[in-house]
Amino acid sequence: MSTPPERTPLSPSPPRRRDLRSSAETDDGAHHGLDAPAPVAESPGEETIAWARGLVKVYGEGSTAVRALDGVDVDFARAELTAIMGPSGSGKSTLMHCMAGLDHATSGTVVVDQAVVSRMKERQLTALRRTRLGFVFQAFNLVPTLTAAENITLPLDIARRPVDREHFDTVVRAVGLEDRLTHRPSELSGGQQQRVACARALMARPSVIFADEPTGNLDSRSSAEVLTFLRRSVDALGQSVVMVTHDPTAASYAHRVLFLADGRLVGELRSPTPGRILDALGTLSARGPSSQATEPTAAAAATAT
Ligand SMILES: Nc1ncnc2c1ncn2[C@@H]1O[C@H](COP(=O)(O)OP(=O)(O)O)[C@@H](O)[C@H]1O
Ligand SMILES: [Mg+2]
Repeated sequence: MSTPPERTPLSPSPPRRRDLRSSAETDDGAHHGLDAPAPVAESPGEETIAWARGLVKVYGEGSTAVRALDGVDVDFARAELTAIMGPSGSGKSTLMHCMAGLDHATSGTVVVDQAVVSRMKERQLTALRRTRLGFVFQAFNLVPTLTAAENITLPLDIARRPVDREHFDTVVRAVGLEDRLTHRPSELSGGQQQRVACARALMARPSVIFADEPTGNLDSRSSAEVLTFLRRSVDALGQSVVMVTHDPTAASYAHRVLFLADGRLVGELRSPTPGRILDALGTLSARGPSSQATEPTAAAAATAT
C-alpha cells in the first residue's frame, strides 16, 4: 500500500497558461553570452513542474550570517532538463535543497507539482520526497550488499509499493543495464553505478528528479553515459530533471541552463552548447565580483570554479 503525502497544501492559485518566454531565448547566433533570466509568471501554468518565488535562505545569524539565496524567482519546465550553474558558493546546492524540501527556506514560496513545499511540515516533506521526488547525488549512495536490480527497486520496496515490471524493464533498458542487474556496486564502473542511481530515481515516476553534480565523480566517458541517459529520460519518458553542475559539457545536455551568482539568478541560456556556456560564464566573470549581495543591483560574482 502506498501512503501519499497527507493533506498536501495545494498551489495557492489555479494554474493558468502563460506566455512570457523571453525573446532573448531565440538562438539567433548574433550574440554570445548570457540571456536575461526569463520573466516568471505570478502563477505559472501547467508546463511548469516546480517553481519558487522570493526564495531567501540565510544560514547562521548576526555578523556570521550567510545569505545563500537572495530572492530567487524561478520556474522549472515540465519534461525538460534544466541545469543550474554558477561559481562555487553561489547557492546552487541550497537552491536545489530548498526546492526538494531537503532544507527549509528562510522565506519565499516553493511549489513542486502543485504541492507547496515551503509550507510543509517535516512528515509531509518526508512523504513528498519519498513519493514524488527522485534524487541523484555526486556520491552514488548505493547499498553495497544489494545487486543493481535490488538497489533500483529499494525505495519502492521500503515504501512497500509494487514494482511495475514493465516500467522497470523500460528504465533498465534506457540506462543500458540489462546485463548488469545481478552485479553488486563493487562490480560496476562508476558510470554504471551512477546509472543504477538514476534508474533508482526514475522507478517511482517522480514529479522531478534533482541531481546535484551527478557527474562530479565520473570520468568524461562515464559522464557522457549518465548525461545521455538523463537527457533521454526527459525526451523519451517525459521526466522533469533539475541538475546542478559546474561542468559546461554536462550543462550542454540540458534544454536550459540557469546561472546563479551570489544567491541570485543572473541569466539563462536555452539550447546551450559548451561554447555558449563558456561565453556566458566569461561574461559573468567579466562583470566582476559583486560586493556580497547587499545592493539590489549587484549582478554577478563569477570567480570561475
Ligand atoms: N549548512 C550551511 N551552513 C552555513 N553556511 C552554508 C551551509 N550550506 C551552505 N552554506 C553557505 O551558503 C553559500 C551557498 O552554498 P551552496 O549552496 O553549497 O553553494 P554551491 O552549491 O553553489 O557551491 C556558501 O557561502 C556556503 O558556504
Ligand atoms: Mg554545491
